[in-house]
Amino acid sequence: KARVAVLISGTGTNMAALLYAAKADSCPFEIVLVASNNPDAPGLTLAAAEGIATWAQSHKGMGRDAFDALVDAQLRAAGSDYVALAGYMRILSADFVARWEGRMLNIHPSLLPKYKGLHTHQQAIDAGDTFGGCSVHVVTAALDDGPVLAQTPVAILPGDTADSLAARVLIAEHQLYAPTLAAFVMREATPDYWLARVRELAMAMPEAE
Ligand code: GAR
Repeated sequence: KARVAVLISGTGTNMAALLYAAKADSCPFEIVLVASNNPDAPGLTLAAAEGIATWAQSHKGMGRDAFDALVDAQLRAAGSDYVALAGYMRILSADFVARWEGRMLNIHPSLLPKYKGLHTHQQAIDAGDTFGGCSVHVVTAALDDGPVLAQTPVAILPGDTADSLAARVLIAEHQLYAPTLAAFVMREATPDYWLARVRELAMAMPEAE
């Protein structure tokens, strides 16, 4: 099985969804480490109770490069083949991204390329969109950029608030991440393959509004 490390900063419900999916014999990946920049992240307690190795250290007072080098060392020590970002609320250093190029996925709560960054649900509501949603993408140097592998649109209802929409999108996230990660680890992820895929998507993608 492919060895996956999950990076979290908070509740870790996406991490939990990956972890439970990985319990199936047929799942092509296993979770070998849950790491966090927040020692108080509730997801760490869950992962430990499920018998998964955890590592946490606060990034506070450390430079981005130094902290990410520390995380990288932990991922390597755990023998990780892939990294899954799951509510990891830190921008990663260029070095870290380069080291895990083509082997790191992120889940983001919008229909990318719309609404990169924070407050995605409020932005979708304010824009009068009829759908919000979530995306799983390959991580590249630019924030919430990189080839989108899968998306789930989620209808925005009259009276939806950012919180009520976020709760439904989160359900969709839990359904989307594991199968997408499974498909990703099963295919040939050579740099050439991903370069070709980036070009393909760039041509197919409509301009951001
Ligand atoms: C999820 O909605 C995830 O998409 C989002 O944070 C939440 C984490 O929830 N990630 C980002 O906004 C990344 N920029 P979880 O800790 O329960 O998985």
